[in-house]
Amino acid sequence: MRIFITGATGFVGAAVVGELLGRGHQVRGLARSDQSAAALLARGVEVHRGNIGEPASVVDGLGGIDAVVHTAFDHDFSRYEENCRSDERLLETIANTLEGSNTPLVATSATTVTTVGHPATEEEDARPENPRSASEKILRHATRGLPVSIVRLPPSVYGRGDKAFIPALIALARHTGVSAYVGDGDNRWPAVHRDDAARLFCDAVEQARSGVRYHAVQDEGIAFRAIADTIGAGIGVPARSLTEERAIAHFGWLGRFVTIDAPASSAKSRALTGWIPRENCLLETLETDGYFVGLEHGGE
Ligand SMILES: NC(=O)c1ccc[n+]([C@@H]2O[C@H](COP(=O)([O-])OP(=O)(O)OC[C@H]3O[C@@H](n4cnc5c(N)ncnc54)[C@H](OP(=O)(O)O)[C@@H]3O)[C@@H](O)[C@H]2O)c1
Repeated sequence: MRIFITGATGFVGAAVVGELLGRGHQVRGLARSDQSAAALLARGVEVHRGNIGEPASVVDGLGGIDAVVHTAFDHDFSRYEENCRSDERLLETIANTLEGSNTPLVATSATTVTTVGHPATEEEDARPENPRSASEKILRHATRGLPVSIVRLPPSVYGRGDKAFIPALIALARHTGVSAYVGDGDNRWPAVHRDDAARLFCDAVEQARSGVRYHAVQDEGIAFRAIADTIGAGIGVPARSLTEERAIAHFGWLGRFVTIDAPASSAKSRALTGWIPRENCLLETLETDGYFVGLEHGGE
C-alpha cells in the first residue's frame, strides 16, 4: 500500500515508518521543516511538506494514497486543550477529504481518555471532560463508511529516543536529588515499547477495521513507586514519597500526570489483530537501554 503518515519524524511515528517500510509499504511522510524532510528522504520516504496547524496543507498530500496514519501532535502542554481541538479539526478535514474513498484512517489517542482507577478497555468511550477525547470524535465517520480506527497509547511509550515522561522524571530526579512519588505510589501507569506500538499501528492500517479502538499496551499497570524506585537506583538517588501538596511544587508540569492511576487492558486488541508485544517491559528497558547514561536519553 502507499501510506501517508503524519508525525513521521516523531518518536512513535518514526517507528511506525520503519515497520511500514519493513512490511513492504511505500510511505509518504508529512514534514514541516527542511530538517524533517531530509530525515525522511534519508529513510527512503517520500516527503509532503505541510503543517498540522493548517489542515489544507496536510490534505494536499493525500493524492494517490491507499491509507493514512496520523501520529503528529503539538506537545506544548501549556496549550494542551487548544492542541487537542486542533487535532480534531485536522482529523475532520482528513476524513472529509477521504469520504467515499474507502481509504483506511488510523488516528492516535491516549488510554487515559477513559475512566481511570480500573483497567480501561477498548470498549470504553472517551470521557468528554478529557481534552484528548477530541481526537476520538473522528470515529463518528465510521458510521459514514470510512474505515477509521484509533490507537490509544499509554502514558509511557518507551525505548531508544524517548523524550517524553520517563526522561523528564529522570532529569527531575537528577536535578532535585530525589526520585519522588506521591503518597504510597501505588497509582498505576500502563506502558508499551515504541516498536510494539508501531506493530499495532501497522496491523490496524492493514486490517482496516472501522470504528475500532485499539490499546497499544504491554504492561497493564506498573505502580508508579516501582518506576520511581528503578529511576532512583539507576541514577543513585533515594526514592521518596511526597504529599500531594509538596508534589505540586516538586513536579511542575509533570504534576498532572504523576498521580494518574490509569491501568489499561489490551485484551481485545490482541484478540482482534493477533498483536503480541515482543519487547522488554518498561522497568527492564530502563535498566538496559541507556536511560541512565548522561543527562538525557540518547536519540536514535
Ligand atoms: N510518546 C508517548 O509516550 C505518548 C503517550 C501517549 C500518547 N502519545 C501520542 O502519540 C502520538 C505520537 O507521539 P510522539 O511521542 O511520537 O510525539 P513526538 O515525538 O513529539 O513527535 C511529534 C511529531 O509531530 C510532528 N509535528 C508536531 N507539530 C507539527 C506541526 N505543526 N506540523 C507538522 N508536524 C508536526 C513532529 O514533527 P517534527 O519532527 O518536525 O517536530 C513529529 O513528527 C501523539 O499523538 C502523542 O500525543 C504519545
